Amino acid sequence: MMKRIGILTSGGDCQGLNAAIRGVAKGLYQEFGKDVEIYGIKDGYKGLIFGEYKLMKPNDFSGILTLGGTLLGTSRQPFKTMRVIDENSVDKVKGMKDNYKKMKLDCLVILGGNGTQKTANLLREEGLNVIHLPKTIDNDIWGTDITFGFHSAVEIATNVIDCIHTTATSHGRVFIVEVMGHKVGWLTLSAGIAGGADVILLPEIPYDIDKVAKCLNDRIKAGKKFSILAVAEGAISKQEAALSKKERKKARENFPHPSIVYRIAEELAGKVDNEIRVCVPGHFQRGGSPCAYDRVLCTRLGATAARYIKEKTFGVMVGMVNGQCVPVPLQDVAGKLKSVPVDCDEIKAARQIGISFGD
Ligand code: F6P
Repeated sequence: MMKRIGILTSGGDCQGLNAAIRGVAKGLYQEFGKDVEIYGIKDGYKGLIFGEYKLMKPNDFSGILTLGGTLLGTSRQPFKTMRVIDENSVDKVKGMKDNYKKMKLDCLVILGGNGTQKTANLLREEGLNVIHLPKTIDNDIWGTDITFGFHSAVEIATNVIDCIHTTATSHGRVFIVEVMGHKVGWLTLSAGIAGGADVILLPEIPYDIDKVAKCLNDRIKAGKKFSILAVAEGAISKQEAALSKKERKKARENFPHPSIVYRIAEELAGKVDNEIRVCVPGHFQRGGSPCAYDRVLCTRLGATAARYIKEKTFGVMVGMVNGQCVPVPLQDVAGKLKSVPVDCDEIKAARQIGISFGD
């Protein structure tokens, strides 16, 4: 009997989406031969809500292993608005269920991060067969050791720090590099260590600006003419950490800086003698080809999703735990955030070689 599988990519893009799509599709064609139809849904949940999809052909999945972005397109559809009927009277959940039925799907494969996963779980609760693949450069999805996109972004952020190193050295400057990662510090921690940063500031370890300044001044005294700070976009000071979430949000509303690194640069200006510059690589970190590690990871996650479809293992994320692909029930993980444990090995090793976390 013909199997019909839908596939969509939702939320911020990253490297490896096409490699994972390819893994799912090639795995399905191997499992079911001509008895499978794959529907590509456009622009994430938006395409599912509004019925924008197309039947894909095996050729559509060729030559995409190394391609950045997502051939299906993506969009952000916040989870908190999913059950809200919008101003045009669109019932999003009904739309998604109706289109799932219209395509006569046996399963919907959903590639995305935390928010996407919450909606995948909502669709599971509504009775749809779903499988989620963990995508994000932030590596913040609970229940999997690693997400695809992360290693590729680490490579890019590390390369940025490497390049900044040479110019910082020539000029004897302090450089503050802002690394993505949303509310967690995985990306900054890895890129910071790999790039040889002198200071690493993470959301998980609130910083004291005087401690950061002391570290930089100690380097000057020791004859080091330059310093590199790798700062997570979600980094917070000790003062901010003492505020409630609401108070912090309010304080940030009056924030005159485009992002955290500009504020840190201003705060350090009176306390450190070197010239200070900032560098914000931003979405550059999500672009381009997936690295070799991610190509392998995406192929494994995608192929495993195809196997789960054959075995009728639904309502799960394909997680990578201790080097193995495992089915992780969505109800156990949806809505949970995987932060960096402050006593993890990477942080311990970084401290042992003298990297400051500003605490
Ligand atoms: O979740 C991936 C991510 O790149 C985060 O690191 C960052 O905070 C956010 O997305 C940026 O979102 P947008 O692409 O909507 O600007």
